[in-house]
Amino acid sequence: MNALRLERRILIISTAFVLILFGIAALAIDMFHVGLPTCLTDIKPFLKGEVITHSPDHFEVHYVSKMWAFDPEEIVVPAGATVDFYVSARDVTHGLVLLGTNLNLMAVPGVVNYARVKFDQPRNYKLLCHEFCGTGHERMAATVRVVDRATFDAAHAAPKPLEPTDPTYKLLEAKDCLTCHSIDGSESIGPTLKGILGRSVKLKGGGTAIADEAYLRESILKPEVKIVDGFDDVMPKPELTDEELKQILDYLKTLK
Ligand code: CUA
Repeated sequence: MNALRLERRILIISTAFVLILFGIAALAIDMFHVGLPTCLTDIKPFLKGEVITHSPDHFEVHYVSKMWAFDPEEIVVPAGATVDFYVSARDVTHGLVLLGTNLNLMAVPGVVNYARVKFDQPRNYKLLCHEFCGTGHERMAATVRVVDRATFDAAHAAPKPLEPTDPTYKLLEAKDCLTCHSIDGSESIGPTLKGILGRSVKLKGGGTAIADEAYLRESILKPEVKIVDGFDDVMPKPELTDEELKQILDYLKTLK
């Protein structure tokens, strides 16, 4: 057999294999409803970065890596703290290296990677992306600030808002609203509910809206219609009776 014929055969066979592979994948999706793996983008911990305090010297940090930033951009922990890092990516593969420590993790869409670091001394640590991830790669950085215990405690001694006793607050909790919306003004996965009534809202894709009662009603019942700029269309439609909806609307008006 001459070389040309051999090459042609190899080409035909490998093309056939690729087609069979795609065919099997299509069959699996269509007939057996096998889901293709996707990114973690709609799973709560990886929509937004988060710092969770387990005890005065044990913290858990969720880093979301995306083109081209880490969220959270800066975290502050006290010297002596043990920090559990959980990292993932929302778009492409990134990598995290925390200079001066052993932390070195890949941030891969659909995967959560983990490392634990104990910070003994006050010091600023630079977190950099070490995986080439596009044109803004070299700008991708964050900071871990380790401060002494007294500084940390002073910064965190601010009085917390009182635990609301309103029964509607409990309803909001039961309907999972408060997982993403705060009532104290802090932004989370969704916009804060504090002072929502009458607020001028910038919308994704341009335009503004005034958050009057009609807007609030629509945003609760059809959250996908108007998305607030800076947030994602991730709110599930809540199941509410007319009575519950009215109760919530009345409560929102009181959150000045
Ligand atoms: Cu992200 Cu390089």
